[in-house]
Amino acid sequence: MFNFLKKRSTISDDGSIHLNYDNIPKHIAIIMDGNGRWAKQRNLPRTIGHKAGVETIRRIIKECDKLGVKYITLYAFSTENWKRPKDEVSALMDLLVEYLKKEFDELNKSNVVINHIGDISKLPERCSKELISAYERTKDNTGIVMNLALNYGGRSEIIDGVKKIAQDIKDGKLKIEDIDEEVISSHMYTKGMPDPDLIIRPSGEQRLSNFLLWQCAYSEFWYSNINWPDFSESDLHKAIYDYQNRDRRFGGIK
Ligand code: FPP
Repeated sequence: MFNFLKKRSTISDDGSIHLNYDNIPKHIAIIMDGNGRWAKQRNLPRTIGHKAGVETIRRIIKECDKLGVKYITLYAFSTENWKRPKDEVSALMDLLVEYLKKEFDELNKSNVVINHIGDISKLPERCSKELISAYERTKDNTGIVMNLALNYGGRSEIIDGVKKIAQDIKDGKLKIEDIDEEVISSHMYTKGMPDPDLIIRPSGEQRLSNFLLWQCAYSEFWYSNINWPDFSESDLHKAIYDYQNRDRRFGGIK
């Protein structure tokens, strides 16, 4: 059997999925979309949709950890989300603080590293304080790394990285001719982490929305019409099943 075929998962006649545990994506990134539509379909306020979205985070983190995923990056608030009505922005910030306070013990007990990416200095102080404290208290854990992308934008991240590189050159720490992919990666918020193998976007939209622009060069994309609050463990398995049945050639030939 060709080596790459061994990395595939299979599906039984009854439709059940058998994942290949030797080929679980190391890093999964998720654009948690569709909370608002989920709420609208139920005649509920949008914030209830976001609350329901937090429940999904809880379930999906557990499942990713169980499957052996090493990094999960969740797009929770983009640099563009400030354009939303003030009430919604404030409700999202409250939800974040509530989530970190309520879930901390459980996540810590499960050995999760609670990390953040994005410019959190622009978030309300109650959020940045809680995020920094959660990171400080979990940074030595050895389990799954959960990156909460907050006030995150792929373009802002690249701009920040370019500025840091320019400063390093100015300070004589780096030569222009030494700039390569590794140097750029090490100036991104995801420094030291593998690029995402799989990017998942529920809710039917098929765009990147300024997410992990540098890191997604060879990521596999998976889309579905399910809104994030309804995204289940079985949907996660379907996404990984598809991932395991694709040929990742990274520009080469199999
Ligand atoms: C996109 O759905 C979702 C967001 C912009 C926020 C995601 C936030 C959470 C799931 C909860 C808060 C996060 C944490 C980490 C506690 P949308 O509102 O754009 O949905 P729509 O496109 O259907 O309107």
